[in-house]
Amino acid sequence: KEKKLWGGRFDNNQSPLVEEYTQSVEFDFNFYQEDIQGSIAHAKMLAEIGILTPQELNLLIQGLEKIKAEIETGVFEWKKEFEDVHMNIEKRLIELVGDVGKKLHTGRSRNDQVALDFRLYVAKAVKEWQEYLRELITALVKVASKNKDTLLPGFTHLQPAQPISLAQHLLAYAWMFKRDFERIQDALKRIEVSPLGAAALAGSAYALNPDFVAKEIGFRASFNNSMDAVSDRDFVLESLFIASVIQAHLSRLCEEIILWSNPCFGFVLLPDEFATGSSIMPQKKNPDVAEIMRGKTGRVYGNLVSLLTVIKGLPLTYNRDLQEDKEPFLDTHKTISLSLILMKEMFLKLKFQQQNMLKAIKKGFLNATELADYLVLKGVPFREAHHISGRLVKLAENKNISLEELSLEEMKKECSKIEEDVFEALDYKQAIQKRNIKGGTGPKSVEFQLNLLKEWIKKN
Ligand code: ARG
Repeated sequence: KEKKLWGGRFDNNQSPLVEEYTQSVEFDFNFYQEDIQGSIAHAKMLAEIGILTPQELNLLIQGLEKIKAEIETGVFEWKKEFEDVHMNIEKRLIELVGDVGKKLHTGRSRNDQVALDFRLYVAKAVKEWQEYLRELITALVKVASKNKDTLLPGFTHLQPAQPISLAQHLLAYAWMFKRDFERIQDALKRIEVSPLGAAALAGSAYALNPDFVAKEIGFRASFNNSMDAVSDRDFVLESLFIASVIQAHLSRLCEEIILWSNPCFGFVLLPDEFATGSSIMPQKKNPDVAEIMRGKTGRVYGNLVSLLTVIKGLPLTYNRDLQEDKEPFLDTHKTISLSLILMKEMFLKLKFQQQNMLKAIKKGFLNATELADYLVLKGVPFREAHHISGRLVKLAENKNISLEELSLEEMKKECSKIEEDVFEALDYKQAIQKRNIKGGTGPKSVEFQLNLLKEWIKKN
């Protein structure tokens, strides 16, 4: 059996079960690109400060690039006995380029190496999320643009509240996802900080140049404290938190799609491609994609809590516990990416049923607030107006009709100030038209929001 790279002081081999239990290559092989990118940057820096000759640097770069090609063509052999991505690659490098390969790790520890790999990986991942968020926002804006005047019952407590436009409802999600995008933008300031040069924990006695490496890999800065650099995982926590908020937002939208596609609502028809049938009930068209997406919120939150728990109580600096930081992130990355992509695709294929939304509006006395506001304009104090409207709602409810179906005489009995023009006030479309206040559901306000979002999309 081959000696471990760290095997100098060991006489006996690790037991196979220990090897299996402690290895991480099974999942950190995912960081091979970042590991190679970081090693090339490190080698360039070593050459820059005279530790490697230009020829040695060339050999190392060629070797590392060959390894990358081997991995990408599937001929590279990952070995659990070499523990992790770092040592698998280093072993092969030494095999390929000989002794010069043994110089690569000068002034470096796996502790700063793995932190760098992970930062590179997380930075790339969250930028992908931004791209998916941008596409989803674009889809929401697109559908909203066509539905400024489409009426929808707005709910509070999941009970009919006030009429709103479908556009206003959809744009609420666009704003949520835009904030998620911005959260990533902000987190990147803290993710894109290079830890290389921190070495094991104390920094290096070689005259390394951390800023050179940071610049080489396109990061914004290098670490300020070597102990913090090798043991900090807030950048992962922050990303997992952002993912949790994204998934929460997705899950809320999923819940709406699930409700809206129920024939009792009938607001939306699910595309066949995004629905499943029942093995027993022939009529079924189930919103499984939305349900699974809602369900996956559990694992995304779980991954955040999982890493928070791993980090809790860890003394400085690196502890092997930190190896448990990767799987939660890998899992969340996969979940968030697929969820965002699928939501966009499903959403664009939803068929909104305007007639059914209109019918629903007429059922829930959504114009009762309009009636109260009408009375206020006629000089009735709001609390009283509220009461009068409530009594008229009760009357209409008993007669199983809507407010606008009451006769003027019936209304006058409750309040003599009500006149013929009340019917205009009770018009659902009017209720929306009137709300052009900043951020309101009125078409002008929606248009304003759409313009802001379109501008933002162009810039981002
Ligand atoms: N596989 C390890 C991890 O993921 C790499 C760093 C190991 N460092 C060490 N000193 N054992 O954290």
